[in-house]
Amino acid sequence: MEERSQWGTRAGFILAAIGSAVGLGNIWRFPAEAYANGGGAFFIPYLFALLTAGIPILIMEFTMGHKYRGSAPLTYRRMHKKTEGIGWWAVLVAFVISTYYSVIIAWAISYSYFSLNLTWGDDTEGFLFGDYLQLAETEGQIGSLVPGVFFPLIVVWIVVLGVLIRGVKRGIEIANRIMIPTLVIVFLIIVMRAITLPGAITGLDAFFKPDFTEILSPTVWVAAYGQIFFSLSIAFAIMITYSSYLPKKSDITNNAFITGFSNSSFELLAGIGVFAVLGFMATSQGVAIDDVVAGGVGLAFVVFPAIINEFPAFGQFFGLLFFLSLVLAGFTSLISIVETYVAGLSEKFNISRTKAVLIGGGIAALISLIYSTNGGLYFLDTVDYFINQFGVAALGLVEVILIAWILRKIGVFKTHANEISDIRLGSWWTISLGVITPIVLGYMMIDLLRLNLTRGFDTETGNYEGYSNIFIMWSGWVVAIAALVIGIVLAIVKWKSNPEEGEYDER
Ligand code: PFF
Repeated sequence: MEERSQWGTRAGFILAAIGSAVGLGNIWRFPAEAYANGGGAFFIPYLFALLTAGIPILIMEFTMGHKYRGSAPLTYRRMHKKTEGIGWWAVLVAFVISTYYSVIIAWAISYSYFSLNLTWGDDTEGFLFGDYLQLAETEGQIGSLVPGVFFPLIVVWIVVLGVLIRGVKRGIEIANRIMIPTLVIVFLIIVMRAITLPGAITGLDAFFKPDFTEILSPTVWVAAYGQIFFSLSIAFAIMITYSSYLPKKSDITNNAFITGFSNSSFELLAGIGVFAVLGFMATSQGVAIDDVVAGGVGLAFVVFPAIINEFPAFGQFFGLLFFLSLVLAGFTSLISIVETYVAGLSEKFNISRTKAVLIGGGIAALISLIYSTNGGLYFLDTVDYFINQFGVAALGLVEVILIAWILRKIGVFKTHANEISDIRLGSWWTISLGVITPIVLGYMMIDLLRLNLTRGFDTETGNYEGYSNIFIMWSGWVVAIAALVIGIVLAIVKWKSNPEEGEYDER
C-alpha cells in the first residue's frame, strides 16, 4: 500500500470539509425548503436537527476516519470485518450522486456564459427545456447527446479528475484553498446587491415570517433532518474519507463544530440572497412571493435568469457571479464525492491513486453522459430523488444503529475524540446518536417506504412527478437497490492489499 496521504494544514482540512458541505444543496435547496416548512419557524427544527444529528454524526464520522484511517469501506472493515459492505454501499451512493451532480455543474458553466448576453431571452423556461436541454417529450426516451451539455460536462470531469490525480495535499487541499474563499467573496457580493434591490424587504419578510402552526407537523421535522443530512454531506462516505487524511495530532470535535456552523451560516446567507431577489422580482411584476418561489433546477435556471432580465443595471454581471457561485460550490462538493470511490478503489485493489481516478472517474464520466441526452433531465430527477431518499434515511439509520446499538462503539469513539479535541463530548453526544437520531430516522424511513411503495398503485397520488411505473422502477428503485447489492458484492471480493496493514487504532 502507498503511504497514506495527509492534509498539509488544519485549515486545509477544514476548508475541504466546508467545501464538501457547501454545495448546490445550500444555494438552491435550503431557501425553498425553509420557506415551504414554516419560514422563520423552520429554524427551530433545523437547529434541533443540526445539534442532535448533523454535528453529532459529523463528529462520529470524523472520529471513524481519524481512528481507522481508511476510506469508508476500509474504515468499516477495520471497525468490524462484517460491516465493510456498508462502507461500499455509501461509496456507491456517492458514485451515483457524482454522475448527475457533475451534469448540473455543466449547466451552470453554460449559464455563466449565457448570462454575458442574456442568451435565454424572455421565455427562460422555454429556453431551458427547449433550446438548451432539448428535452424529450416523455420520460424514458434517451435520444442523442446534447452538445451544449456534453462539452461543459467534459470540462467538469477534466478539472475534477485533474485535481484528484494531484492528490490530497497538492490537489484537493489547494483547490479548496482557492475555490472556497473565492466562493465566499462572490456570494457576499451577490447578497449585498440582492438586499439593496427594490422590493428585497418583501422577500425577506416572507422568508423569515414564522408560521408556528407548521412546526408540530412531522413533515417539517423530516424536511429539517433531510436538509441537514444532504447539506452536511454526512452518511455518504465523504466525511469519513476526508478525515482519514488527518494527521495523528488533530482536533476532531472543534473541527466538526466549525464545519457544521460554517455550512449553516452559508445556508442562511443563501436564503437571504435568494429571497431578496425573489422579493425584487415579485415587486417588479406586481405579484405575490408565492408566485415566484422555486427551488432546485427551476430556481437556478428558470427563475434566476428571469430575475436577471429585470435587473435595473449590470444584470449580466450579477448573472455571471451567481452561476459562478454554483460552479464553485458544485466543484468543491463533487471533488469530495468522487474522492470516496477513488480512495475505496485504490485501497481495495491496491492500485495507484492515478489509476483509481482514471478507472473510477472514467466510469462515472461515461455514465454521466446519460444525463446529457435528450431524456437526461427525467433520469436525473428520478435518480436524485430515490438515491437521496435512501441515502439520507437508510444509510444514516443503518450507520447509527450499527455503531450505537450493535457494535456499541459510542464509548470508545468518545474517548478517542476527547483525547485529542479541545471540546469534550458528554451525554449530549451519546443521547443524540443513540436515541434521538435513530428514532427520527426510523420514522422517516417508514414514512418514505409507505409513501413510495403505495404511490404507483394509487391512481390518486401517482408516482413521483407522475412518472410511469416502469420508469420509476428502473431509474428509481433499481438504481437505489443496485447501490446496496453491488456494495455487498464488492465487500465479498478479496482484498488485493492487506486491510490490517497500516497504522490505525484497533480498539
Ligand atoms: N453537501 C453538498 C450539497 O449540499 O450540495 C454536496 C452533496 C452531498 C450533495 C451529498 C448531495 C449529497 F447527497
